[in-house]
Amino acid sequence: MKVLVTGGAGYIGVVLCERLLKSGHNVRILDRLYWGRAPLKHLADQVELVQADVRDVPDAAFADIDAVAHLAGLSNDPTAEYNPTANWEMNAIATESLALECKRRGIRRFTFGSSASIYDGLGEGVFDENAPVDPRGAYSRSKHEAEARLLRAAGPDFEPVILRQGTVYGFSTRLRLDLVVNTFIKDALLRGALYLHGGGWMWRPLVDINDVAEAHVRCLEAPADAVAGQIFNVVHDNFQIRQLAMLVTGSLSIMGRQASLETAPVPAINRDYRCTNRKLTERIGFTPSVTVLESIEKLLSSLPVSEPTLLAHPRYYNIAWMTLLDEIVEEHSPFTSVWESTRRTT
Ligand SMILES: NC(=O)c1ccc[n+]([C@@H]2O[C@H](COP(=O)([O-])OP(=O)(O)OC[C@H]3O[C@@H](n4cnc5c(N)ncnc54)[C@H](O)[C@@H]3O)[C@@H](O)[C@H]2O)c1
Repeated sequence: MKVLVTGGAGYIGVVLCERLLKSGHNVRILDRLYWGRAPLKHLADQVELVQADVRDVPDAAFADIDAVAHLAGLSNDPTAEYNPTANWEMNAIATESLALECKRRGIRRFTFGSSASIYDGLGEGVFDENAPVDPRGAYSRSKHEAEARLLRAAGPDFEPVILRQGTVYGFSTRLRLDLVVNTFIKDALLRGALYLHGGGWMWRPLVDINDVAEAHVRCLEAPADAVAGQIFNVVHDNFQIRQLAMLVTGSLSIMGRQASLETAPVPAINRDYRCTNRKLTERIGFTPSVTVLESIEKLLSSLPVSEPTLLAHPRYYNIAWMTLLDEIVEEHSPFTSVWESTRRTT
């Protein structure tokens, strides 16, 4: 199969491309490269790259494509709140346009990297895909809208599969350190302290990055009657944030490194939700299995543990990087905003 991976130069995207290649699939990446080409260096001679904006996909990106894994767009609450217009255009509208273009061209299978944050606000309970969601934030609202638009386009000639991914942990050559487990490891190494906002009592569904990639590949390969037009949660387990902090400090202590646990004020965006992977297990026999502890071990062996100041670079924090790019562009007018600047460049 030849798979178009939008956002293939991103945190999950790179790992998904590696996993697709391992199964013998061909890969073309479509990405506007917010984080540059460096994360793709090890794949450079194995993948095709189209540098473009998902809001304006060139025809050439679709040539010979059999299936799409769609990950491009703003990928967290802070960046979505920072530029809600760009977020809506990228996450909701562009997802539908891409889907309709695939449908028109006979590209049927289409996995979508949605988010379990859609369950936030439902209160107590462990929710499945039938829960009456009512997302609150700009990011989760845009993901929910994209899901609705994909399901409207579904039919015999178009087979979207929506994957509501839990918060991801683990290593990628395009590293994110703004996701809870990865953040805790960074804080422990860099500051010797982990910060538990509001005491860290809130719940989150978590999943390893390799399991997310695996879920996409399984859903790209599965028979249509098992997955087409379906929504699946992709979750290893639900954790309270303070449990995750304890797993990180415990793992570090085995290495002879100490980090303290500090309480901090409740954050402005306070997410608290749980969900279950049961449907994915029952329908296609896939249960995410990489544990937080295993993933922490791998991260610790891959990060520059002896030079932790490297981890403070803004490129590992989506909102810090986005605001920095905007500032650079503003200082160097007459360039347009970073949200526009690479559109129509292929
Ligand atoms: N990482 C998580 O914990 C998580 C959890 C749930 C859902 N998701 C979703 O999974 C997807 C991938 O997330 P990630 O963590 O890899 O994020 P990421 O920010 O690392 O990667 C996103 C990639 O998409 C590209 N991109 C962004 N906007 C684009 C546009 N308009 N046109 C073309 N390319 C664009 C970026 O350059 C980047 O390479 C996102 O849709 C995100 O919302 C992520």
